[in-house]
Formats: sequence, C-alpha cells, structure tokens
Amino acid sequence: MRTMKERPIGMFDSGVGGLSILRVFLEELPHEDVVYLADTVHFPYGKKTAEEIEGFGRNIAEHFKKVGVKLVIIACNTATVYSLKAVQEVMGDIPVIGVIGAGARAAVESKGESIGVIATDATIRSHAYSDMIRSLGETAQVTPLATQRLVTLVEEGDVDSDHARAVIREDLTPLLDDPPAKLILGCTHFPGLSHLIVELLPEVKLIDPAYALVKEASDYLEKENLLRVEGGGKVEFLVTGDPMSFAKNGSLLLGHPIKDAKKLIL
Ligand code: DGL
Repeated sequence: MRTMKERPIGMFDSGVGGLSILRVFLEELPHEDVVYLADTVHFPYGKKTAEEIEGFGRNIAEHFKKVGVKLVIIACNTATVYSLKAVQEVMGDIPVIGVIGAGARAAVESKGESIGVIATDATIRSHAYSDMIRSLGETAQVTPLATQRLVTLVEEGDVDSDHARAVIREDLTPLLDDPPAKLILGCTHFPGLSHLIVELLPEVKLIDPAYALVKEASDYLEKENLLRVEGGGKVEFLVTGDPMSFAKNGSLLLGHPIKDAKKLIL
C-alpha cells in the first residue's frame, strides 16, 4: 500500500501541450511519479463546446481517482477554464490546480506594461485571462488573440518549417504594428513554438505559465509534507488516441524521447 506521499501526480491535456508543463515539473521535482494523460481522441479542446470540455475533464478525473493521485494538475488552459470545477467536484479532498491563475500571476509580476494573450478559440472566448489579470489589480491594456492553428502545428510536430513560420506570421499579424510588452503563451502547446514567435516579435517578453504553475504545485506539496525528495521519478504516459504519434511529437516538447506511451480507453 502506497503512502499519500508516494502517490503520483495526475496531469492532463488534450495532447502533447501539457508536456511543456511536465518538462519544467520534472526539472524542479524530479522525485515525483507522474501519470500524464493525453486526451488526443478529443483533440483539439479549443474547438469544442463548454459542455464537451467539462465532460472530458470529469471522465479524466474519474480515472485519476481510481489511480489514487495526490494532486491533479490541469496542464491545459482550455480545460482549466471549462472543467476545473467539475474536476474538483470529482476529486473531492484531492487538490486540483489549473494553469490560468499561474499564467496571469506571472504576467503581472511587473505591473503597468501591456499584455497580449494568445490561446485557443475556447479560452479567448471565455475572457478567463483578461478577467484574472484584472482581478489581480492590473489596469494596463490586455489584448487577447485566438491562435488555434498554432495548436495543430505543435500537435503535429510541425515546429520548424516555412509553413509553421507562415501560419504564425498570419495569426499574429494583429500584434505586429503595436506589439505588447509581454505575451502570455495561454495554451500549453505554444512553448513548442517560442523560438519562432521570438523571431517574429523579438522585443516581446514571452510568459510561459509553466514556471508559476510548477511553483504553486511545489509549494502545496511542501506545505502538506507530500513532497518527495528521494526515489520515484517514474512517468506513465496514457493516450486516448494514437500513442505512436503522441510519443513522436511529444518528445520534441518534452526534450527527451517518450518510449512507452500506452493506449487508454476512458
Ligand atoms: N493545450 C491546450 C491549452 O492549453 C489545448 C489545446 C487544444 O486542444 O485546443 O489550451
């Protein structure tokens, strides 16, 4: 029987995007076991309705409950917006943290500078980032922009081609004339394209919410005496769609090869 401390962390996204969170997580907390669930059969979340995304989150939470995780990290902005409450409801006493709060906090660390937000259609439609930024007392200009096609580029591993550069240029055109001081990567897939976004907007400071999110997780584990400082470090990859393409394209974002992704039927 595992102790609470030895239980894994449950992390999920619609696909490879959450691996940008997992990468930072493993750097900071190398002794935690993680179950990473990629719900690729429902990709892309950004094109789904609020009810659908809530339902995906609920099913995934049921799975994490069965596994017996000690913390759930929603490594997806879209799922944080539409399923955080449902996931919390299913998990009961087990805490659930999402990425929007962390991203907004990271963006307002230095106040008074204009902020751009790029995210999926569904996240932008929700105004979640603008609302969160305002609730933190930031009054500077916030410019939200839906860039759903960038999600597909990363999910398909197309992160260094002329085509990828052209799509990014087209979708970020509204920001080119008067670029914001900071740009929140409001979809966990987007750190996979940071190098190309920087090429186009060299003066803009990119905000990757992963660091603030992992800090929040780490602070919680430490406070509750659940942080592992030895052993562990095992990551299990579960994929509702095709594990092969997830492993291939996900390796780019994770920074090392994914060898053993397994199919999961939820
Ligand atoms: N990676 C996700 C996010 O952070 C979702 C992308 C999608 O499936 O549309 O929003």
